[in-house]
Amino acid sequence: MCESLSLKIPASTANLGVGFDSIGMALNKFLYLNVQINNSDRWSFKHIGPNVEGLPIDETHYIYQIAQQVANRYEVTLPPLDIEMRSEIPLARGLGSSASALVGALYIANYFGDIELSKYELLQLATEFEGHPDNVAPTIYGGLVLGYYDPQTKVTDVSYIDPPRADMIITIPSNELSTTLSRNALPETFSHKDAVRNSAISNTMISALIQHNYELAGKMMEQDGFHEPYRQHLIPEFQTIKRIAKRYHSYATVISGAGPTVLTMIAPERSGELVRELKREFIHCRSELVTINVTGVESEVLYQRH
Ligand code: HSE
Repeated sequence: MCESLSLKIPASTANLGVGFDSIGMALNKFLYLNVQINNSDRWSFKHIGPNVEGLPIDETHYIYQIAQQVANRYEVTLPPLDIEMRSEIPLARGLGSSASALVGALYIANYFGDIELSKYELLQLATEFEGHPDNVAPTIYGGLVLGYYDPQTKVTDVSYIDPPRADMIITIPSNELSTTLSRNALPETFSHKDAVRNSAISNTMISALIQHNYELAGKMMEQDGFHEPYRQHLIPEFQTIKRIAKRYHSYATVISGAGPTVLTMIAPERSGELVRELKREFIHCRSELVTINVTGVESEVLYQRH
């Protein structure tokens, strides 16, 4: 019998405007990993389809690096593995592709190292690697998750709210935007006055989302002062998408994660018309409707004869 671990890991959109590094939502676009023990003495990676071309096929792979760090921490030895990787999540576009790969590596180490990490522990580890929970938390749990990582204690606390009952459109530019570059565009410091203002906007946005008041939530999302003012020049399409979306009475248009993908939240009656208009207007981008993922990572162990 040959045993394989199959993982279906969702993408995520971080920040939602005002929740920089703390709010994220899982999306129904997936990284698929199929993992089995091989008979050699090393790991190998096989990449199928778009979004994974050019990734290393040997032990320089990010998933190998992370999985080994986890194995070392828990003092277990992982067997040599063959990993087949397929992905619907474009790389370096602000849809959490590296967080999904990171979470995949943790699940692989957990399973093949027989560590028995709980979901809570997986989240703690993932956030420690990533530095903030906004992509990894929804990727692990699904839905809309808010969280805070305390770098001193290395503890991550999370809280969940109902995902919005609104439609989501993502417009994905053809170019990549490095997260490092996008984070380097941010200011080092923030005045007390600005912090108070932005935390008020963020608090109001969350309260409005809890009450499913999307008009108010959207109004707040679009007033972010934590990251969008400093990053929007890196995404030339952003302001035009926002303007067009407003013609369709969208609730909000924000930068997804570190960009360059742009996320629009809109009423279901109007989403179809808008996404088609965005497709016509931005032929070099991919505009699509995307649904919110509520399951988080799905894993399955399969057995087959050799
Ligand atoms: N919150 C992060 C950012 C997400 O906006 O940079 C990408 O890591």
